[in-house]
Amino acid sequence: MTIKSRIRTIPHYPRQGVMFRDITTLLKDPVGFRVTINEFVHRYTGVRIDRIAAIESRGFIIGAALAYQLGLGFVPIRKKGKLPGPTKGHDYELEYGTDRIEIHLDAIDKGDRVLLVDDLIATGGTAEAAVALIESMGGSIVECCFVIDLPELGGRQRLEARGQKVFALCDFE
Ligand code: PRP
Ligand code: ADE
Repeated sequence: MTIKSRIRTIPHYPRQGVMFRDITTLLKDPVGFRVTINEFVHRYTGVRIDRIAAIESRGFIIGAALAYQLGLGFVPIRKKGKLPGPTKGHDYELEYGTDRIEIHLDAIDKGDRVLLVDDLIATGGTAEAAVALIESMGGSIVECCFVIDLPELGGRQRLEARGQKVFALCDFE
């Protein structure tokens, strides 16, 4: 079984020209979901990580399961206006629009080693904004990990150009 083979593509969602890589077909498959999380568990077991930060909303599914398995705390990075406490935010551009992400001011302590998790990297705008937020709070990013990389959209290079390590379980050209 491959992870990639269980990801469905929906053409022209959410708008004309976007090939939407849909992980719901991977997640509904108990083997697919378990293998996905286990790949990350295998990679990060024994690595010094203080907490896992994941990006709303699909990133939460992967990040929460991984944090639980690794015995680490989980920090949500949310879309604007969703977190109840004092936050810090960052605006960014998407493949299909613009948005803002926020993190609680007390979510990261200075010197924390953070693993950043999301389901997918496209242009890298979302992950770059999350990296900027975590670093501005004194955290350091161990690695940015994704189930899917869309290499044509250049997100990996964008993160690597700012010194980040990037890991993805599969690519879609
Ligand atoms: C998707 C995906 C990533 C982001 C990647 O999230 O889950 O977070 O886009 O795009 P980028 O690399 O070009 O920034 P989306 O904002 O669609 O939110 P969702 O997870 O709530 O569906
Ligand atoms: N987020 C940004 N681009 C995407 C795509 N092509 N498929 C799924 N999620 C995405």
